[in-house]
Amino acid sequence: MKLILLGPPGAGKGTQAAMLVEQFGIPQISTGDMLRAAVREKSTMGLKAKECMDAGALVPDEVVVGIVRERLQQEDCRAGFILDGFPRTVPQADALKKVLAELGKELDSVISLEVDTDALVERLTGRRTCGVCGKGYHLRFDPPREDGLCRECGGVLIQRDDDQEATIRTRMDVYHEQTVPLEDYYRQQGLLCRVDGMQEIATVHQRIVSVLQAG
Ligand code: AP5
Ligand code: MG
Ligand code: ZN
Repeated sequence: MKLILLGPPGAGKGTQAAMLVEQFGIPQISTGDMLRAAVREKSTMGLKAKECMDAGALVPDEVVVGIVRERLQQEDCRAGFILDGFPRTVPQADALKKVLAELGKELDSVISLEVDTDALVERLTGRRTCGVCGKGYHLRFDPPREDGLCRECGGVLIQRDDDQEATIRTRMDVYHEQTVPLEDYYRQQGLLCRVDGMQEIATVHQRIVSVLQAG
């Protein structure tokens, strides 16, 4: 199964991708996670990317396309993959098409998670992520342990640098300007499936699974 999870910041792409990884045993390819890993490693690319990310802007297309191209060639992507946060611009989508054609692969589905702006801001301001295992939480909707630590590994939870309200608003604007055109792009290819992302996490998961099984 080869799919894209499309949706605004905070829509639940990462949350749903993790559940699909469990269910289908295919890897999650999150450009945001890969860029944050590069930031932690303080590579030249990571340091440049951090400036864009902290400003709520996109990292240049050629950087993310390069990362994804390399990742898709790895052995564990043979049976399928879940792209989370990529593509985000029309040039990225065109580049993906080329990379997949070179690898003899085709997308099965593009799931678009639809969530109201107010809910997005609440989700992002309340988000916390385990600094050790990367598991995501929400202070209200998916709370961590009573002592505030990760339920899986006991790690300390951290807040993402770009989850400040002003940066969140910029990320939303960037999404509307640069990523929303991909809805039409994939609709025209007959790949777009809209899913109501306003439901509870487990319900959204079930709906995605039904869409994929109906596919
Ligand atoms: P990225 O990391 O991709 O961030 P994003 O797209 O802004 O999305 P988020 O990760 O913030 O949200 P999500 O949809 O994954 O939501 P989550 O599941 O965590 O990108 C970060 C930056 O990297 C970009 O701004 C850019 O600079 C750069 N970048 C990345 N990819 C790029 C690309 N392709 N090109 C260029 N630049 C790129 O959920 C959010 C919260 O809500 C969590 O707390 C969760 O517990 C909770 N939640 C989830 N679902 C529900 C639900 N159904 N009900 C209630 N709460 C829920
Ligand atoms: Mg995410
Ligand atoms: Zn953890």
